[in-house]
Amino acid sequence: MSVHGGDKPITVPDLRRMKGTPQVWLTAYTTPMARLLDPHCDALLVGDSLGMVLYGLPSTLAVTLEMMIGHGAAVVRGAKRSCIVVDLPFGSYQKSPEQAFATAARVLAETGCAAVKLEGGTEMAETIRFLTRRGIPVCGHVGLMPQSVNVAGGFRATGRTEDEAAKVTADAQAVAEAGAFAVVVEGTLEPVAAAITRAISIPTIGIGASAACDGQVLVIDDVLGTFNDFTPRFVKRYADLGERISAAAAAYARDVRAREFPGPEHVFRKRT
Ligand code: KIV
Repeated sequence: MSVHGGDKPITVPDLRRMKGTPQVWLTAYTTPMARLLDPHCDALLVGDSLGMVLYGLPSTLAVTLEMMIGHGAAVVRGAKRSCIVVDLPFGSYQKSPEQAFATAARVLAETGCAAVKLEGGTEMAETIRFLTRRGIPVCGHVGLMPQSVNVAGGFRATGRTEDEAAKVTADAQAVAEAGAFAVVVEGTLEPVAAAITRAISIPTIGIGASAACDGQVLVIDDVLGTFNDFTPRFVKRYADLGERISAAAAAYARDVRAREFPGPEHVFRKRT
């Protein structure tokens, strides 16, 4: 149970009020996983990381709006109390505030989620203001921004130089002032993330940004060990389900080849 308490659905204003308390976010992409995670989380993020962990894509850039809507609706069906936030995919919101509004309105209407998340700092502040003033709750995302992988030249942490620290801080401030209810701070050095968390009035949700953030988010496949292409340093693995799934598949294959499955108990027979 979270600090929010009870079984009542957690709303965007509830998350906003939880500044200073350790709110728990995890990604989820499917109904069964949402059902399992929901009792333990304050928010479930339908992240565009699904492109890499579910679809085997090399980055999040090819994720489509249709994928996000399909998985967003699936997660909403599986959750009773966590607040559901859905990522806007690359190319669906950067062109103009109007494009972002049309995309976000579709996501809210077609998934039933509570809020959207988009990447970008000062350059997206106008868009965030446009959306929030028109009834669309927005979570920002600053620091390491996977949709900008080609500009950054890879997935690298930020905040190492004074210029980088000043940029990510200005980005978080701009997002907060524009009306976001929370901001994901990804891949950012601890002292910088700590200073941002002190400086802004909305909750910071860290991923690779230290315990100084107000809350934390991780990609569920990293937590469970079902995505093993690479594991970032900031991930803590809580289970090795990848190995257990592989062992289960191997045991099934052995039984089929030995004609030991199906056994007599798995076979339909005439009633006597
Ligand atoms: O896409 C995603 O899962 C995310 C988290 C890593 C914060 O944006």
